[in-house]
Amino acid sequence: MTTEPLPAAVPVGSLSIWDPIHLGTDENGASVHVRLAERNMFIGGEPGAGKSAALQLVVAHAAMSLDCHLILVDGKRVELGLWRDCAERFIGPSVDEAIDTLKWLQSEIDKRTDWLLSVAKRKITRDMPWPIYVLFLDEIAYFSATVGTPAQQKEFNALNRDIVARGRAPGIIPVEATQRPSADILPTSLRDLFGYRWAFRCSTEASSDTILGHGWADRGYSATSIDPQARGVGWLRAEDGIPRRIKAAYLTDEEIIYLANYAAQLRGRRHLHAVNEGLSGGEVA
Ligand SMILES: Nc1ncnc2c1ncn2[C@@H]1O[C@H](COP(=O)(O)OP(=O)(O)O)[C@@H](O)[C@H]1O
Ligand SMILES: [Mg+2]
Repeated sequence: MTTEPLPAAVPVGSLSIWDPIHLGTDENGASVHVRLAERNMFIGGEPGAGKSAALQLVVAHAAMSLDCHLILVDGKRVELGLWRDCAERFIGPSVDEAIDTLKWLQSEIDKRTDWLLSVAKRKITRDMPWPIYVLFLDEIAYFSATVGTPAQQKEFNALNRDIVARGRAPGIIPVEATQRPSADILPTSLRDLFGYRWAFRCSTEASSDTILGHGWADRGYSATSIDPQARGVGWLRAEDGIPRRIKAAYLTDEEIIYLANYAAQLRGRRHLHAVNEGLSGGEVA
């Protein structure tokens, strides 16, 4: 019997943002993974379809990956708030702060692009000393069409578009979700810049195509076919690929709190939030 004190968290070590990220299982029960570095992701679907839960899976992997920094933008605050101790920046409902953060990421893209040019490289790779920044944005429409003045919304949209368009090569990766997948929130020109598109239940074929790409509903890949009760089921389309119907994995609030605390510890940040005693095995310093 050991007399050593129990560790405050299970010592599983950290992950890498370059590693495959587990998203769920396909119809054959096979595990579905994606690689996020060099790719960005768009998640759409009607309210309650499972978008925020899906976003949590990617946030969890990123939070545990010490080679990336998290930028969390969540107008509602409750979806990504549990991860705030793991984040470089956590932005709530302030459109000014959201714009300020996107400008900062834009300047980071400029700085890294200058550096890439100076060393004659086209993109950031794993061996370079630049951490990946992952921008998680839950509910694009909140900033792009709901709060703020028309001028602020326009500025937000222009900045977001630039980051989605230019961010991948210099390692600034947006992962964005919205519950209003319509052409005004997600113009085709913006959608087509996202490498991964994940369509949860939609009420119209037009919305489904807004996420997956033009013509997929006609070919039988429509998120309207998903049973409204089947939360977490969606079509995942990787770049140039055929959409694949998958059931997203799911993290409970307790699991998120546990993982967020562990990730904050890995990152050397003191966590300030309640720890679920049963799951954590004790208080964390
Ligand atoms: N993959 C999943 N497996 C099981 N239940 C899920 C899954 N995704 C979502 N749910 C359930 O559906 C609810 C709504 O999901 P949420 O991600 O908040 O929807 P959205 O962000 O699309 O509005 C969750 O609170 C949860 O109860
Ligand atoms: Mg949501």
